[in-house]
Amino acid sequence: MKGIILAGGKATRLRPLTLITSKQLLPVYNKPMVFYPIETLIKAGIKDILVIVAPDYPGQYLKLLGSGKEFGARFTYEIQEEANGLAEAFIIGEKFVGKDNVALILGDNIFEHDFSEDIKSFESGALTFVKKVHDPQRYGVVEFDESMKVLSIEEKPEHPKSEYASVGFYVYDHRVCEIAKNLKPSKRGEIEINGNPSVNNTFLEMGELQARIIDGMWEDAGTFDSLLRVNNFMAEKAKQAAGE
Ligand code: DAU
Repeated sequence: MKGIILAGGKATRLRPLTLITSKQLLPVYNKPMVFYPIETLIKAGIKDILVIVAPDYPGQYLKLLGSGKEFGARFTYEIQEEANGLAEAFIIGEKFVGKDNVALILGDNIFEHDFSEDIKSFESGALTFVKKVHDPQRYGVVEFDESMKVLSIEEKPEHPKSEYASVGFYVYDHRVCEIAKNLKPSKRGEIEINGNPSVNNTFLEMGELQARIIDGMWEDAGTFDSLLRVNNFMAEKAKQAAGE
């Protein structure tokens, strides 16, 4: 299994914090944000990782992360010229993925969940991870049956069909690259993971999209409030670990 961290975008919601640097390099307690998705992939057993960044910041990422040796991993870098959508990660990453399976993690998503069992048991098709939230209309919303087969998936719907948000971690077999290449942009002009059309809706139509519920804290650190929450959470966790 290979891993992709998508750490591009303009992060206009976090201005002025993101006027001179990338959102995924902002601090989350005692580490740059991007360390968390890296650690999530490594904990899941994924050590061959492609980091996709915006054109203004490759130097900063390279200086911070290097070859990956210090993490016990191997990092490759690519630039996403424009924020054309999450699914573009699989077009940019096509050569890197080759014939392997691949996990995509969004660079601003911070997880406590351990994905290693899900990764180990994955064979083919697509896995999308979900968590119950009180404000599903802010996210991709996933409806699924008792066997965890996905019935519908909608991007930021006004009337959500379930309380389960699609979190920023996705697992696919290598067909995802071909699917991404054939996607038309959605109404908001992006090639999407969860919208219509999208990568997940294509796997859903093929009857190959499964959902998995994650445990523990999850934050999309893309707003001032969620960034503050996750900073406080990590500070508290570090104090507990130190027995304070
Ligand atoms: O956090 C989970 C949510 O992430 C999902 O529930 C949604 O289905 C999914 O669309 C996404 O929603 P967001 O509103 O958070 O998407 P956003 O456009 O903010 O992009 C998420 C991250 O990916 C963000 O850190 C920027 C980065 N990004 C985004 C785009 C569109 C890129 O690196 N390149 C891109 O082209």
